[in-house]
Amino acid sequence: MKSIQSNIKIAKKYLNKDDCVGIPTETVYGLAANAYSNIAVKKIYKLKKRPKSNPLIVHYYNIQNLKKDCYINADFIKLYKRFCPGPITFVLNLKKSTKISKFTTNFKKTLAVRFPKNKVIRSLLSKLDYPLAAPSANIFKNISPVNAKDVKENFGKKLRYVLDGGRSKIGLESTIVDIRKSPIILRYGGLEKSKIERILGKKIKVGINTKKNSSPGQFKVHYSPGIPLRMNAKNFKSNEALVLLKKRKKKHSNFFYLTKTNNLKEAAKNLYTILKRIKKKGYRSIAVTKIPNFGIGQTINDRLKRAAKF
Ligand code: TXA
Ligand code: MG
Repeated sequence: MKSIQSNIKIAKKYLNKDDCVGIPTETVYGLAANAYSNIAVKKIYKLKKRPKSNPLIVHYYNIQNLKKDCYINADFIKLYKRFCPGPITFVLNLKKSTKISKFTTNFKKTLAVRFPKNKVIRSLLSKLDYPLAAPSANIFKNISPVNAKDVKENFGKKLRYVLDGGRSKIGLESTIVDIRKSPIILRYGGLEKSKIERILGKKIKVGINTKKNSSPGQFKVHYSPGIPLRMNAKNFKSNEALVLLKKRKKKHSNFFYLTKTNNLKEAAKNLYTILKRIKKKGYRSIAVTKIPNFGIGQTINDRLKRAAKF
């Protein structure tokens, strides 16, 4: 724990100087900077090669801190009490008095916010005077990293520091809900839609692709491993990796298991790591077995569909 605390101190030192730092979260790793600082936030876009029109998620320690910047409502409180900290992002209205940098939101009047659960990032957030703007720590359109080493690999020396908080337990990005009026899911993610519906006591619409580029899910090609990928595959071609959910009797070097027991949570956690491993091994394409389209399986299928557009 002592070395974790000294690492947190180092991260804080860089962040206070308006530098970017790689941060752990339970969903995926982020590329963080002071959300109140124009200079700091601009560095995120530059490092990530991200279009300025795509706003960032801001990470808070708790609801008290959030209230300085955003209006909340009854649905928000219900979901906050049940799921936060955790893998859900809320779109809320910004207060006029907010200190959030205009570049964080691309001059929008709304803000996407979340409360990450990973212990190391929570400890860091509790020690800062500002929330952290952080997109996933991948280069634009690539796969998100789920460990500190991959973040270092993505940015090399351009990124001064990565705070190690272990492997991301969920392995897929947060679920984004626009909660301002009648709730709408803008991106499938680590928290299942049905769980959100149960707490709110109502059905939620899915608004992916309704407004052009208003949310992450909008980019058709995203989360890409950099080689062709096809879904619902039963077999593989030569030089193609086959990604599986259930143990097969036959052994084959082209088989890659997300899980051997059809456990979709485990599959989600392993997805990005396995896709990356396949690419590194030199396979020319990826075939993925059919993934059941419920619970977290919906999120896996969403990511695979976008990866398949490569
Ligand atoms: O799990 C996660 O959400 C990770 C970790 C690091 O927290 N973050 C993440 O950030 O996935 P990013 O930037 O890769 O994806 C967030 C998406 C953006 O692509 C953006 O389109 C959407 O959230 N977003 C941000 N602000 C928004 C807003 N005000 N309204 C609608 N969508 C927004
Ligand atoms: Mg991302």
